[in-house]
Amino acid sequence: MAQTVDIKDLSVARQIARDYKDVPGCIMPILQKTQEKYGCLSFEIQQALADELDIPVSELYGVATFYSQFSLERKGDYKIGVCLGTACYVKKSQDILDELQKQLNLEVGHTTPDHKFTLEATRCLGCCGLAPVMMINDDVYGGLVPEDIAAILAKY
Ligand code: FES
Repeated sequence: MAQTVDIKDLSVARQIARDYKDVPGCIMPILQKTQEKYGCLSFEIQQALADELDIPVSELYGVATFYSQFSLERKGDYKIGVCLGTACYVKKSQDILDELQKQLNLEVGHTTPDHKFTLEATRCLGCCGLAPVMMINDDVYGGLVPEDIAAILAKY
């Protein structure tokens, strides 16, 4: 996975803003580059960018929250996606999601404090024959029951 810059080191964000400052329509490329480097656009990062660009931070916040490609919170190293598509749902994928929430002590859409796991619900992953399905980064797990979850998580 892409190398991420320490979220507290704002010098990289400031440099990106300075590099693009004079380019017309620079906000999108600046946010994209910054997200690529840090893995997120935290409030502190947005503030640093806004300072360099000499614009109100609300302007960046509006864009960062509008597009789903941007995340205000740093994602985990392992992204868990549990399919809630129809085929998986009828095979009780909600129980799988509930079990993950319980074991990770985490709500859907959030990341563990150590940034190891991010838990998400997804649409059909295209392998309905394996329902219920979840993915952890590129690994696919199918035919799941809640009892499988602890052993799977232990691998990461
Ligand atoms: S509905 Fe889950 S993989 Fe298609």
